[in-house]
Amino acid sequence: MNDHAIIERFKDGFDFELDAFQIEAAETLLNGRSVLVTAPTGSGKTIVAEFAIFDALDRNLQVIYTTPLKALSNQKYRDLLEQYPAERVGLVTGDQSINPQADVVVMTTEVLRNILYQNPRRMDSVLYVVIDECHYMNDMDRGTVWEEIIIHAPSHLCLVALSATIANADELCNWISSIHNEMKIIEHLERPVPLRHFYFGGEKLYPVFNKKGRLDARLEKLAEKQKSLKKQLHQDRRSGKKTRKPDLIPEGRVIEALEKKQMLPAIYFIFSRKNCDDALSSCLDSGMDLTSKDEKKLIEATIKQLLDENPSLKETGPSTESLLLGLPKGLAAHHAGLVPLLRHLVESLFQRNLVKVVFATETLAAGINMPARTTVISSLSKRTDVGHRVLTVNEFTQMTGRAGRRGMDTEGYCVIIGSLYQSPYQAVELIQGDYDPIASHFTLSYNMVLNLLRNGERKEVREVLQRSFGQYLSNKEMININLLMEQKRLALEQIKSSPESKSYIRHLRSQLRGFGKQIKRQQEIYLKEFDALTRVLQYFGRIKPDGKHWRLTPLGEMTAHIRAQNDLLISLVMESLDYNSFTPVEMAAIFSTLVFEPRRYMEHDLSQCSKKVREFFKDILHIADDLRYVQEEENIHLPLTVEFDFAPLVVLWGNGARWSTLFKFTNMTDGDVVRAMRQLIDLLRQLETMPAAPEEFRKKIREAIPLLDRDLIQSIA
Ligand SMILES: Nc1ncnc2c1ncn2[C@@H]1O[C@H](COP(=O)(O)OP(=O)(O)OP(=O)(O)O)[C@@H](O)[C@H]1O
Ligand SMILES: [Mg+2]
Repeated sequence: MNDHAIIERFKDGFDFELDAFQIEAAETLLNGRSVLVTAPTGSGKTIVAEFAIFDALDRNLQVIYTTPLKALSNQKYRDLLEQYPAERVGLVTGDQSINPQADVVVMTTEVLRNILYQNPRRMDSVLYVVIDECHYMNDMDRGTVWEEIIIHAPSHLCLVALSATIANADELCNWISSIHNEMKIIEHLERPVPLRHFYFGGEKLYPVFNKKGRLDARLEKLAEKQKSLKKQLHQDRRSGKKTRKPDLIPEGRVIEALEKKQMLPAIYFIFSRKNCDDALSSCLDSGMDLTSKDEKKLIEATIKQLLDENPSLKETGPSTESLLLGLPKGLAAHHAGLVPLLRHLVESLFQRNLVKVVFATETLAAGINMPARTTVISSLSKRTDVGHRVLTVNEFTQMTGRAGRRGMDTEGYCVIIGSLYQSPYQAVELIQGDYDPIASHFTLSYNMVLNLLRNGERKEVREVLQRSFGQYLSNKEMININLLMEQKRLALEQIKSSPESKSYIRHLRSQLRGFGKQIKRQQEIYLKEFDALTRVLQYFGRIKPDGKHWRLTPLGEMTAHIRAQNDLLISLVMESLDYNSFTPVEMAAIFSTLVFEPRRYMEHDLSQCSKKVREFFKDILHIADDLRYVQEEENIHLPLTVEFDFAPLVVLWGNGARWSTLFKFTNMTDGDVVRAMRQLIDLLRQLETMPAAPEEFRKKIREAIPLLDRDLIQSIA
């Protein structure tokens, strides 16, 4: 079979044997079927995507490779540049666009969604769409994007979906098979490097399981002790006795134990940026030093080069200071408060085995290829927007799974830090727990409605909505309701003739009516909302009836081009903005109010914005109120946010301020400022390329971009 010839050629590029699941996936693709590969962290799913690229290029066809995060896209792009000539490889994210027509283009999932809506012909010569980290479909806010690209992917191409282990792979696969083309699940369960779990019980490390796979006897005892201590503590509190918070285990002590047992390098997960920084500082204060002289030299040289190339780094905040002190000693922190340039430095030093311990927030768990020998989990629960909650099994395995480097370690280790509130039993629950299923987060937006209306009439739109995963799950539920209904109908038939059960008959009939209504609702869970959004768009003149169809007005075309949460609001603000009377930087400041997401309450000081800008802010509030009112009338709950707090920083930065000047006006961290500015630049790029917008408007936006996209804000590829 010459099918296998290409697999053989592909294999030649590696100095290791491919795993059975990797070959099975390649064969499936050659047979023209899509694949859903689910395998644990670090098991080599990327090889399957690499095969797809190899095969497509061999046939002179193209591949689109999507990832959920810019950092991942950048990393993938760099990897590809090492394998293929630069002109064959491209990268498109909200940040930048390099070679967008190349044979292999890496992009964020949102970018692909836009292509599918606005330029579907781009897909004509695409053979494979890779969906890396496909389990992101479970993300509350962004999951809908994954559903949309699967719904709209043309059927001539195959999907290469790569996912962490999930509970309902078959459900997902059946759905995709039913709306796209046939997909096969390739499930691989074993980890390439086995993982052993330990519990740090205050003074030392205990293996969680004994040889028989049961909880270690010493930990059983420890758990008993914890229980009675906890009880005592509660009693003391209730009787008004002064109690001390139970001591937390210092990170330094854990690291010493790991070093002794040769369990470094380690990623030490701590779910708060501040606590990551504090852990680093306290290790430094205690004089910890994990590197040799030669290693120090290498690290210091790398740092010096980076600082020489980016002098503004010297102006960044206290997190940077302790990081730069820690790195030569093999210690680092990694979190979103740091500028991307420094996060990247930590990653590359860790990959070179020069950094031995990284205190990291969860951001590090998502797909970046940065394996360690050991992962430490400091807390089995975390604070979220909706209160404190225990980690999910998926979150836990995603983090612990970073341990055990293929080809370097024979085993990986996961250490769970013990405490009164984190017993060995709780650890076992997470280690042995069931994976979470993927749910549907399909959400309608104005942007989606406009793009659907542009390409079809209501009947076709209806079909598209019917193809969502949300509808698929709802249909499955309907099968159960139908079965129940059938039972009730039979029961009704049987007792119809007996006169004494009149009230029971009435009861059955009303139940049947209820089911009937429920089925009607579930048949088209999105249509009602779709119609409501359509009415709002018509009210604001974004669409016009045109015979049986809707036609997008120029303002509608503009709105269809915006991918941001406030899509309609942004276009309404554009509509009423007299752009001739604002400078490019002022325009940027104005639009920042519609994309900025503050992490917490910020001080309000708008004095850096001109009076005219501040006046216009009031208009923005009125426009938002109008829209909110119309939405409420239609019972639509799409969020609308207006935040002025970032605008002064945009004005300062756009007018050439130094990095350190910004922080006289904000309590944001360096990393947050970069993130917010990049988000704004992403929007400005969308506005600048908006087809239906007036040239004068676009010109001003175009001028604003380079004023903001400079120095530490600039992205790294
Ligand atoms: N068959 C193999 N034999 C040996 N090493 C392999 C094999 N396949 C892949 N690897 C190596 O395993 C490492 C991890 O692979 P990869 O990044 O593809 O994992 P992944 O499954 O995508 O994990 P994640 O869930 O973290 O994204 C890579 O360094 C890769 O080179
Ligand atoms: Mg991967």
